[in-house]
Amino acid sequence: MITHKKLPNGFVYIEIKNSAAEAKIALQGAHLFHYARVGEEPILWLSEVSDFETGKAIRGGVPICWPWFGFSEDKALPQHGFARTAMWDCVSCSEADEKSSSVILRLTHSQESLKMWPYLFELDLHVTISDKLTMELKTTNLDCNPFSITQALHTYFSLSHISDAVIKGLDKKPYLDALTWKDEVQEGDITFNQEVDRVYQEVDREITLYDKNRTLHVRNENSSSVVVWNPWIEKTSRMSAMNKDAYEHMLCIESANAFDDARVVKPQKSHTLKTVIF
Ligand code: BG6
Repeated sequence: MITHKKLPNGFVYIEIKNSAAEAKIALQGAHLFHYARVGEEPILWLSEVSDFETGKAIRGGVPICWPWFGFSEDKALPQHGFARTAMWDCVSCSEADEKSSSVILRLTHSQESLKMWPYLFELDLHVTISDKLTMELKTTNLDCNPFSITQALHTYFSLSHISDAVIKGLDKKPYLDALTWKDEVQEGDITFNQEVDRVYQEVDREITLYDKNRTLHVRNENSSSVVVWNPWIEKTSRMSAMNKDAYEHMLCIESANAFDDARVVKPQKSHTLKTVIF
């Protein structure tokens, strides 16, 4: 069942329930903020103190960073782009069978977007909810000039505890350490005992997240960069919509086209960033 819902403050979202899983997607930002397989704990982390307010990004779930990841050259523009706080349209809802439901949300250029990024575009998020979570972010260039994008499906995973988390699949991969701006190379698995903010490059394998009671797989297509982020204690205390111990129960593995993995999209062409989580 796919239902359009509204919070008391007018914030609108789509609720999806089928025999395999359930999910919630806000029209603001095409922001998936809940996904759980039937009988299991939610896979996505959502801050207990997140705002569901017009113009404010939700803290948790899967924010869409687009058309730039991080900061644009103009530092006055919003971090991670404007797509995550823009209002999207729902263009289709469908149920393939009792275990699989799909929603397509669309954002197109507007007077506001053209002030921040001077291109005509169509951006579609195709979400499929089944025993897997599939997200395809398709950028189509409707302009007469090529444009370059950086982007991410900024997935917040829910953890039993950060000290139990182990990420496999990035051994020997080069990364930019965003805390020191140095280029490094990963040795072995990733574990966490301090702030981590890294952009891995040349990623060509499935990534596996081991937690105490659960193993999750992330399979990306048309992406060779992955961001791994946990803000740890001090940064969490400075962040919006985060309780002070929130860093203990979340970790971001972001399926990206970031830094060296920026993509040029020519007029009338498309690029689709895809992730499957299972
Ligand atoms: C990550 C960045 O992708 O997003 C971090 O690597 C940043 O540096 C984080 O802090 C959260 O960003 P925001 O804008 O949602 O607070």
